[in-house]
Amino acid sequence: MDRSELCTEQEIATLVYGFYDRIRADAMLGPVFNTHITDWNTHLQIMVRFWSSLLLGAGTYSGTPMPKHVALPGLHADMFRQWLALFHATTEELPNRLLATRAEEYAQRIARSLWYGWQMNNAPNSLPSELAHV
Ligand code: HEM
Repeated sequence: MDRSELCTEQEIATLVYGFYDRIRADAMLGPVFNTHITDWNTHLQIMVRFWSSLLLGAGTYSGTPMPKHVALPGLHADMFRQWLALFHATTEELPNRLLATRAEEYAQRIARSLWYGWQMNNAPNSLPSELAHV
């Protein structure tokens, strides 16, 4: 199957908007996002381009997530675990199960990598912790 047949852009928008609705309502993560994101419309558009580029090969995202997350103060492993739990709760509801699986795989890999990068830059003298139980 060609990657572009996995899903429509509309399905990605549904995933992204549903996920950030959960994020914004979350007691732990909502305040972090709301502190750093002033323009939610722009953020959501960036996130649709990010996921479309990963899942469909759309090539419409050209940012650099790692430095943006490394610069966020006070992150910890439970935040990434909660991020993944909310993402999972969102993909679980998608009728397109292949899209759900692919999105989940990317999310797991990128969350681990961002958490590693964050620790490397912000706590270089401690051994990195894993997001093992997710
Ligand atoms: C604890 C977990 C996370 C927190 C608190 C968090 C928070 C944030 C915040 C506040 C921004 C806006 C930064 C800015 O504009 O300066 C952002 C951007 C972004 N995040 Fe996360 N994030 C988390 C995990 C993730 C994960 C796991 C992914 C990918 C699977 C991800 C992908 C992105 C992307 C693509 C952007 C846009 C970067 C750009 O402007 O190009 N984030 N995140």
